[in-house]
Amino acid sequence: MSLKPATLSQADAIIGQYPHKRSATMPLLHLVQEDRGYINDADMAWVAEKVGVTPMQVLEVVTFYPMFRREPIGRRHIRVCRTLSCALRGSYALMASLEKSLNCKRGETSADGNFTIEFVECIADCGCGPVVQVDHAMHENVTPDKAEAFAAKIRTSLTDTNYGKTAPQPGTPEWNG
Ligand code: FES
Repeated sequence: MSLKPATLSQADAIIGQYPHKRSATMPLLHLVQEDRGYINDADMAWVAEKVGVTPMQVLEVVTFYPMFRREPIGRRHIRVCRTLSCALRGSYALMASLEKSLNCKRGETSADGNFTIEFVECIADCGCGPVVQVDHAMHENVTPDKAEAFAAKIRTSLTDTNYGKTAPQPGTPEWNG
């Protein structure tokens, strides 16, 4: 398994919050993904045993929801919204620029393992598109003309020891792409 001890103990606490163990399937999958970065076959078997369902039933959940990953991802996970509001504001042109700047094709992980970039559907911030989520942080108004600077910022974050310690706040330059 090689999941962290904290993950293993949290799993039991999570299961205890539900009247039926199987209801903890998705929270446990999120927990595993947070720990490992993705969900492998052994993880699915472990979750199945913990919640009393078959590994196939866990696989059905993992493959149904796009937020669950079955492969490792890059150090920065970049998700560009392509739904209507963001698309009209240039998310396709933005994606093309980011692919070029980060040397990474959409739906793939860069050869150096630093970036995974993909299109996603609406992430509920439609008035501020194009919206890009980088790991847990949302970035608004990332119009195509800002793509190169935005890519540079993502590259810089790889060596920023404070990265991820604070979330971008609305109205700050970082939040606004
Ligand atoms: S359309 Fe992009 S956040 Fe809703």
